[in-house]
Amino acid sequence: MTVDMDEGLLRDLLAGELERVRHRSLGLTTELLEDAELTAQHSQLMSPLVWDLAHVGNYEELWLLRAAAGMDPMRPEIDSLYDAFEHPRSERPRLPLLSPRESTDYIGLVRRKVLDSLERVRFEGSAPLLDQAFVYRMVLQHEHQHDETMLATHQLRRGERVLSADSATPAPGETLRGAVPSEVHVAAGPFAMGTSTDPWAYDNERPAHLVDLPAFYIDAVPTSNRDYLAFVEAGGYDDRRWWSDAGWDWRCQSGKRVPAFWVRDAGRWWRRRFGRLEALPLDEPVQHVCYFEAGAYARWAGRRLPTEAEWEKAASWDPWMHTKRRFPWGDDPPTGEHANLGQVRYRPTAVGSFPAGASAYGVRQMLGDVWEWTSTDFSGHPGFCVFPYREYSEVFFGTGYKVLRGGSWATDPLACRTTFRNWDYPIRRQIFAGFRTARSA
Ligand SMILES: [Fe+2]
Repeated sequence: MTVDMDEGLLRDLLAGELERVRHRSLGLTTELLEDAELTAQHSQLMSPLVWDLAHVGNYEELWLLRAAAGMDPMRPEIDSLYDAFEHPRSERPRLPLLSPRESTDYIGLVRRKVLDSLERVRFEGSAPLLDQAFVYRMVLQHEHQHDETMLATHQLRRGERVLSADSATPAPGETLRGAVPSEVHVAAGPFAMGTSTDPWAYDNERPAHLVDLPAFYIDAVPTSNRDYLAFVEAGGYDDRRWWSDAGWDWRCQSGKRVPAFWVRDAGRWWRRRFGRLEALPLDEPVQHVCYFEAGAYARWAGRRLPTEAEWEKAASWDPWMHTKRRFPWGDDPPTGEHANLGQVRYRPTAVGSFPAGASAYGVRQMLGDVWEWTSTDFSGHPGFCVFPYREYSEVFFGTGYKVLRGGSWATDPLACRTTFRNWDYPIRRQIFAGFRTARSA
């Protein structure tokens, strides 16, 4: 999308995207599950799905109707119920939440008012919140991010799978094995990290700044189930040498010895995916491992996790043109040729897929498939300014979160780019995360 898009076109695009994301949210909730399943807590780690649903509407009301359009609160009595900072996920099922029916009525009414006010809003020359429609882009991405969270809830949910069938089409290059080098070399030198111009970028992606890195090697593809299984079968979980102090504590306290959802039965390896057991697909990137497991694997393999800056340079820098790419392959929006994004499949695709999605350095699958753990703690870029509220990013800086990059198969293309930053606790395994490894040159 160009920055100086005509206002009418921009309004049409936003309205279309608002409709698309809502179709997705309802498709993961009220169109799929009975009320009892929507209000149940499927895991202590997650909210009831009906909370996510009403929360995205409440956030939309807060930002698009109150902050941007200056309207009065529609239902001030429910604000605190849907404030993620007031109630941790574990408490949410005990709150007097709106029922599924009340939730869809409420978010539908918010949406009608939003579409109405969108007709009148002026973006050009407006205050920062509305400039280039920033606040609309923020709200759209927020709902997509919750949809990915809802998919994680579906993965944790017990019982028969309710999601529709996967795309049966193999990804481009998915069936070609062995055609990709194991790692690529990234020469020393500066690159532009972050962005100062992307109208979709959150505060934590800003501003663009030069980072000078020593030379390094990074895996051309994410670590596969086959690779990770070799670590498991070599006794990697029982060998103290591969684990950091905190990682070993986690391993001892948690009792975990394999990635989440892996099952060993009848002499074979299986994985549970949305309620079904299937043979462990050895060519797919490993998924549902925490930061500590990723780090232990890397040490066992004689390597390490990339830093966040190394990841972003390998994904986004064009060393010949000295330019930054919004996506690994360039600035064209993602298609089915580039990456496994947007819940087209309910799984990652085999490592080595998507030759057309490779970065300038030849690194594949940097976007989509699995989020990738990096070794970097979450903090602000130099020159970081809070915008528009502290609770999106800043309150998480320096509090033990690790940065993840690249998005997963469940991430919508609208919330995915080479500067996008995600973060989570190093023990988290329910997210669709894997990793790739690196080494210093
Ligand atoms: Fe949220």
